[in-house]
Amino acid sequence: MPSVFETAAAASAIPITFATKATWKSICAGFPAQAQQFAQANGFAAKPGACLTLPSADGQIAQVVFGLEDETGKSRDLFRPGALPGLLPPGVYRFANAPHDRRLATLAFALGSYRFSRYRKVDAPEVKLVPPDGIDIADITRMAEAAALARDLINTPANDMGPEQLALAAQTLATRFGADFNCIVGDDLVRQNFPLIHAVGMASPRAPRLIDFTWGDPAHPKVTLVGKGVCFDTGGLDLKPSTGMLIMKKDMGGAANVLALASMVMDARLKVRLRVLIPAVENAVGGNAFRPLDIFPSRKGLSVEIGNTDAEGRLVLADALALADEEKPDLLVDLGTLTGAARVALGPDLPPFYTNDETLALDVARCAKAENDPLWRLPLWPAYDAWLDSKVANLNNAPSGGFAGSIVCALFLQRFVEAAKSWLHVDIYGWTPQAKPARPEGGECQAARAIYKLLGERYG
Ligand code: BES
Ligand code: MN
Ligand code: ZN
Repeated sequence: MPSVFETAAAASAIPITFATKATWKSICAGFPAQAQQFAQANGFAAKPGACLTLPSADGQIAQVVFGLEDETGKSRDLFRPGALPGLLPPGVYRFANAPHDRRLATLAFALGSYRFSRYRKVDAPEVKLVPPDGIDIADITRMAEAAALARDLINTPANDMGPEQLALAAQTLATRFGADFNCIVGDDLVRQNFPLIHAVGMASPRAPRLIDFTWGDPAHPKVTLVGKGVCFDTGGLDLKPSTGMLIMKKDMGGAANVLALASMVMDARLKVRLRVLIPAVENAVGGNAFRPLDIFPSRKGLSVEIGNTDAEGRLVLADALALADEEKPDLLVDLGTLTGAARVALGPDLPPFYTNDETLALDVARCAKAENDPLWRLPLWPAYDAWLDSKVANLNNAPSGGFAGSIVCALFLQRFVEAAKSWLHVDIYGWTPQAKPARPEGGECQAARAIYKLLGERYG
C-alpha cells in the first residue's frame, strides 16, 4: 500500500481549513474577498462533511474548506476527515487548523484512502497529506496498514480465501517478523486432538487447519490472540437463507483482525511473547458434514452436542481456546464474527466485548474510545450459563430459546477458558454495510486498534 503521507512537499501543500457552523463566519472573514464571494456563491455553510475547493486568482486550487460538527455537538464523528481522500482532487494537502482530533483525523485520512483493488483497476485517490506536527506517523501508518490487511483479507471472496490461503497470509506475516509458524491440517487435527475444528471443516474439500505462530521473547508476558477463521459459512446442514449467506465470506473477520493486531504488535516490537491461533475452516454442506444432534468430544474433554451447525464459530474457537489456555497466558483475546444477535443488539459498528476482568474491561472501554474503535461491554451473565446444558452431553452449542444469543455464545466459549489469567472475547461484525468517512463499504478492521492501544500501554 503506497503511503498517503508526504513529508517532502510541505511548503507547497494545499491547506485544508476545518470549519463548523459556529466558526465558519469568522473563518470566512479572514479569507481574501474573492474567496469569500466564491464560498458564498456556492452556498457553503460548513455543514458536517461539506467540502469546497477555493480557487486562486490564476485558477489553481488555493485552499479547501471542510465542514465538521460543532465542538459542542451531541455526536461528533472524529473520523469525518476520512471522507476527504474521496472528495479532493489529486494533490498534496495539509491541515491548516485543528480538526476535532488531529491524530484521529490523520488516521482517518489514511483509512479513508483504502480501496480494494484485487480484481480490477480502481481509481485510488491520488491525494496525499503532509502529516500535522507532533503526530507519530509511523504508528498511524502501522495502524492504516494493519486495517488494509484486515480489509483485504475479508474482502477477498471465499474462492480465493479458503483455509489454505488464509494460512498462507498468516505465514507471510509470520515470516516477515521472524515468528515461528506451524499449521495442523486435515486429519492431523483429529490425531492431535482438535475434534471440533475437524468436525466443522470436514465437509469442505478444502481441508480445515489450525494456524499457530509465536513471536517475541519467551520471557515476556504471554499474550495469545485467537481469531475465528471460517472462510465461508453456509450454515452447514442448518443452512443459512440466501440473504444471510450473502456476505459470509467475511466470516473469517476475526482471523483477519487478529492478524491485523498481530502485525501492529510485532511491528511496534511490544514486549510480549505473542501467540496467534486461527482455526481456519469452511462450514460447508456435504454428505460428510456434521449434523444437528451429533455429539463430538472437544480438546478440553467436554462433549458437545450440536444444536445447530450454524453455530460453528464457537466450536472451532473452543478447541483453539482450549489449546491457548494450556500455557496459562497472561492475556487471552479472541475475536470472531460469532452471532447475528450481537448485530441485533448493538448494530454493525459497535461490537460487544466480554470479560470478567474488571480492570481489563475499563481499559478496553477507554482504549476503544480513544482510538475511535468503539466497543461496548456486555455481561457474561452467570444465570444464563445453565442454558448451555445438554440432556446427553456436557453442553450444547446452540441451545433452543434463542434469547441473548451473543451472551450465550460468550458463555459457551468461557467453558473452554480456565487457566488464562485474563480473557477478553469480542463478537465483531467485521464489515461496513454502508460507506462512512474513513470506512469504505466492505471488510472492516474492528477491535484491533483498540486492543493494540491497550497492549501498547501495558507492554510498550
Ligand atoms: N457467522 C455467523 C454469525 C453472523 C451472522 C455474523 C451474520 C454476522 C452476520 C455465525 O456462525 C452464526 O451463524 N451464528 C448463528 C448462531 C445460532 C445458530 C445460534 C446466528 O447468529 O444466527
Ligand atoms: Mn454460522
Ligand atoms: Zn459463522
